[in-house]
Amino acid sequence: MKRMLPAAAAAVVLGSLTLATAQPGAAPSPAAAKAFAKGNCNLCHAVPGIDVATKDESCTGCHIWIRDTSRDPAKRETAMQYFPLWERYEKNVASYLEVPSLSAAMARLEPAWIESYLADPHDVRPGLPEGMPRFGLDAADRAAIAQAFATHTATVDKTPKPTKKNLDKGKAKLVTSGCTACHGFGAAVPASPGIAMAPDLAHVRARMSPDMTVAWIMDPRKIAPSSTMMSFGVSLDDAVAIRDYLFLADPEWTDPPPPTADPQPTKDPVTWAQVEERVFGKICAHCHMDPSLPANQGRRGPGNAGGFGFPETGIHLQSPEGIRPHAEKIGPALLRRRQEAQRDTVQRGQQPKSLTRPEKPGMPLGLPPLPDEDISLVLGWIEQGMPE
Ligand code: HEC
Ligand code: HEC
Ligand code: HEC
Ligand code: HEC
Repeated sequence: MKRMLPAAAAAVVLGSLTLATAQPGAAPSPAAAKAFAKGNCNLCHAVPGIDVATKDESCTGCHIWIRDTSRDPAKRETAMQYFPLWERYEKNVASYLEVPSLSAAMARLEPAWIESYLADPHDVRPGLPEGMPRFGLDAADRAAIAQAFATHTATVDKTPKPTKKNLDKGKAKLVTSGCTACHGFGAAVPASPGIAMAPDLAHVRARMSPDMTVAWIMDPRKIAPSSTMMSFGVSLDDAVAIRDYLFLADPEWTDPPPPTADPQPTKDPVTWAQVEERVFGKICAHCHMDPSLPANQGRRGPGNAGGFGFPETGIHLQSPEGIRPHAEKIGPALLRRRQEAQRDTVQRGQQPKSLTRPEKPGMPLGLPPLPDEDISLVLGWIEQGMPE
């Protein structure tokens, strides 16, 4: 069972492995560097002042590499020779192909918001199915990271206080300036389909200062050259009116519907091949690797060796033998994720719900819950004694 990419073969296909290089930017304090390392932030983000993770480790790096290789006919042909399951990879790899720029986030977002977000992340980009994982960081780690953000905050001009007088003008300018092509604002969802990386602007008042919001609307690339939003030449007057609308208008959000009744184990016979193909090999394996598989080269992934600040679990999910000792934990972990979805994976127009989080995060961590049909399949397979 060689589901994961053999690193050596991957190196041959790519030519060479990317060497870790430090991201430009002021080096974080030792406490922040420790917290970034504990949270494995560089597996997904480019963190200023911290080494980039290699393609073999990086969730975004390897996923992007798979997508780009599949778009290049010559490289794709070579890849298909090395990886018998290449077409399955191409079909399945969809998450973490793009993540927000941390330097753009550091330049504009309020450090206090970062601190609470790291403690209890929620969906800010409803068009993006995947989210940020929860972390096993403590308050000191979160404070150190927020402090690192504070040292990168851009300096901006003072602006008038938000006023309700501007609501009508701001609402109109948001549309006529083209913003709603990409962004939603609460119940006002973007002209279809919007772009996944554009946040729901109803979160701005919690995330950014009034002055920063005006400066960002006028020229985001001036605040952060790495911003994925470009400048649309909005005047100061119009930017202030839009900001006032974003800060003071009622987003008219709806609540996400509460989860339906828990799915039950299927009574149909289920094989390992089915649950491997749809769940364990496809989604869970990347964080819960079996180090004894030659292709994994001793790697175990954050869900097995410990990662994102969580301790080692010793759980690999790449074979029935790996799963059996932990079988009773699997169903509850999948069902917890259905509860968390009300906060972590909302639909456009919905406000992330405040939840009392279960002590342990639901699985798959950071990703949408499995469809009920697949949960039934896994529960059925476990109930049937986990046949090969
Ligand atoms: C597994 C991938 C992954 C890891 C690891 C990860 N993040 Fe994220 N992060 C994301 C994704 C995806 C989003 C966007 C979520 C959304 O907007 O709903 C995000 C969003 C953010 C944001 C908000 C930025 C914005 O523009 O909205 C911050 C800040 C952030 N991450 C910081 C961190 C820090 C600090 C760490 C380490 C403690 C970390 N991330 C680890 C995937 C990751
Ligand atoms: C060395 C390359 C590599 C690395 C590193 C890697 N992945 Fe993957 N990932 C893959 C491949 C290949 C697949 C498709 C597997 C399959 O379907 O058999 C995949 C699939 C996935 C999937 C299911 C499909 C999707 O995109 O939603 C998730 C979730 C996932 N990976 C998460 C992660 C996370 C989180 C990390 C970082 C901790 C990570 N991966 C690191 C290669 C990689
Ligand atoms: C082509 C798509 C697109 C258009 C059009 C667009 N934006 Fe953005 N906007 C983005 C993206 C993507 C981000 C996230 C930037 C990043 O993470 O680097 C963003 C970020 C923002 C933010 C920060 C929000 C937050 O919560 O972090 C504000 C405010 C904003 N945009 C306002 C506007 C306004 C006002 C307009 C119209 C003048 C506009 N945008 C037009 C794509 C767009
Ligand atoms: C993005 C990485 C990631 C993905 C994907 C992931 N896990 Fe995990 N998993 C973790 C981490 C990290 C922990 C440790 C959490 C803790 O200590 O509470 C964990 C813990 C667990 C646990 C132990 C929970 C307990 O009660 O102690 C189970 C069971 C589990 N995962 C099952 C799964 C299943 C099943 C999937 C696929 C549907 C999956 N995981 C996908 C990272 C991941």
